[in-house]
Amino acid sequence: MGFPAQRPRRLRQSPAVRRLVSETRLHPADLILPMFVREGAAEPLPIRSMPGVVQHSLDSLEKAAVEAVEAGVGGLMLFGVPSTRDAVGSGADDPEGILNVGLRRLRDAVGDDTVVMADLCLDEFTDHGHCGVLDAAGRVDNDATLERYAAMGLAQVEAGAHVLGLSGMMDGQVGHVRAALDEAGHTDTILLAYAAKYASGFFGPFRDAVESALEGDRTAYQQDPGNAVEALREVRLDIAEGADMVMVKPALPYLDIVSAVAAESEVPVSAYQVSGEYAMIEAAAAAGMIDRERVMMESLTAIHRAGAQNILTYYAVEAARALR
Ligand code: PBG
Repeated sequence: MGFPAQRPRRLRQSPAVRRLVSETRLHPADLILPMFVREGAAEPLPIRSMPGVVQHSLDSLEKAAVEAVEAGVGGLMLFGVPSTRDAVGSGADDPEGILNVGLRRLRDAVGDDTVVMADLCLDEFTDHGHCGVLDAAGRVDNDATLERYAAMGLAQVEAGAHVLGLSGMMDGQVGHVRAALDEAGHTDTILLAYAAKYASGFFGPFRDAVESALEGDRTAYQQDPGNAVEALREVRLDIAEGADMVMVKPALPYLDIVSAVAAESEVPVSAYQVSGEYAMIEAAAAAGMIDRERVMMESLTAIHRAGAQNILTYYAVEAARALR
């Protein structure tokens, strides 16, 4: 019997050797924590389909943000849950709207110690649940929505956001918001474009989190799950319009897209481990089917390995602590 000429196992023989040759290392600063703040909440409220995640009150938001900074996370992404909604999402650009009030509170609490990000999309604020305003035929009106996004973006910057996360998938949204910000002198505000965002069933639990009552679906603006070439076009357009960072969303079911975008993008790439990805891990772990912490770290490592520099994840604080 001959000896194998090649022995890859040599480099797996001990923790020290494995550490030496490790190709992918997560760092707390790679992780961004999505947070929800609910108008009128006196205390944090649990979200049924996202065990361990809450709709914060303003006080609990501040406390959780400080803890996240202590854990070393790279950023905080805030979503608002308003108590009233209307056709145009008036609460989105109202300085007293819950997202803007929450942003001011966050920024006051963390200053410049971490990066404060705002979700820039109308779906939490509209009574029909769409990401934009509707035309007379009930379809999402792209260009009328851009005007709403510009107003919303200005309100978010004035409330203290360092980064605006453009998640509505309207054509021209990056260029339009950039122009409105520049016009108002906000040339330093960073735009994170959800460049390749798919019409995904994995967003299901998020609808609980923001109490969205969506009529219909988002297939007329979010991408078809089978399309990959289209994602690269979206990324190219967003970068040309001035996106400072681009995102792929969801993450784990779209690692091929993360990888293709990372190969092509000249700006940092993020991926969003969305609510349904989180809920699947939690449900399987609660049923005793998988090792929760192990799968948490493995999924984050896989997303990072595929090419996402930053990962938005509901596990950000827990994972950051585990990495320290
Ligand atoms: C839009 C938005 C959504 C998510 C983030 N931003 C919902 C959607 O597009 O339907 C989903 C995030 C998640 O599922 O964790 N405001």
